[in-house]
Amino acid sequence: MNDFFNLKGRVAIVTGGGSGLGVGIGSALGALGASVVLCDIKENLLEKAVADLKSEGIPVISTICDVTRPETFRATLDAAQKAFGTADILINNAGVTKSQDALDVTLADWDYILNINVKGLFECTQLFAKELIAAQKEGHVVNVASNGAKVTYSDQVHYCASKAAVVNMTQCLADSFAKHNINVNAVCPGAVDTDMLKGCMIATEQATGGKVTVEDCIRTWGPPQLGRLIQPVEVGRIIAFLCTPAAQMIRGQSINVDAGNTRF
Ligand SMILES: NC(=O)c1ccc[n+]([C@@H]2O[C@H](COP(=O)([O-])OP(=O)(O)OC[C@H]3O[C@@H](n4cnc5c(N)ncnc54)[C@H](O)[C@@H]3O)[C@@H](O)[C@H]2O)c1
Repeated sequence: MNDFFNLKGRVAIVTGGGSGLGVGIGSALGALGASVVLCDIKENLLEKAVADLKSEGIPVISTICDVTRPETFRATLDAAQKAFGTADILINNAGVTKSQDALDVTLADWDYILNINVKGLFECTQLFAKELIAAQKEGHVVNVASNGAKVTYSDQVHYCASKAAVVNMTQCLADSFAKHNINVNAVCPGAVDTDMLKGCMIATEQATGGKVTVEDCIRTWGPPQLGRLIQPVEVGRIIAFLCTPAAQMIRGQSINVDAGNTRF
């Protein structure tokens, strides 16, 4: 493995790292040589995630962190520093959704989604960038948006809007941090085989009175070109690549990771 495709000596924090995409991302970063810090609100999920990555030979620790509580992310930066040195990769993966008809959405629902997916993501990124700049280090941020930023999910108006905000924020922050050599990109995955997606499938089965079953969703929600759901590590590998020196010319982009299903 040459230096262009290598993350040896790098320290990566993955928010929402306890399950689903977070674990796949940690695994992909670790496979390229990074040390990994998984942080999440759910301690029980973190225990299994850490065990999984350790079994792959990846140096990994975990912290309890709620991205809407900056003091907990501050503690995560400190834990990373203590275990491995200053973190120089941040993967903003923590995110939530709620499947509901637009007519039923309340302002409290908007607050719940935007506080985590948008404001929490921003605050973690700001703290990370300040630490990196103080340490005079270069670094990478990758935001996990969604193809919902570009196409419509009629039962997730707030989620799609939050991910569109992440795509735009990625461009703004890439511009803003360029002078500090902090590269910011995003990925826009399609349907990835995780608990979040399973929750959306169950909601669809309920909303259609069983006309569309969870099994139907599993069969049809993946990119048609692929004929199956996307696996978390398949998104993780694109994210890991975006953090390598090879990806230096990719900046402020939101890369679709859905096997060619979304083309803009
Ligand atoms: N699954 C998909 O099809 C899909 C597609 C596109 C984008 N995404 C995005 O990928 C990311 C990961 O989703 P997933 O599918 O793995 O879902 P998931 O529910 O399996 O995992 C999300 C993780 O985030 C954690 N989390 C929730 N709120 C948090 C908070 N406030 N602070 C810290 N951690 C928190 C959860 O505990 C959970 O472990 C999300 O941003 C989601 O929007 C998912």
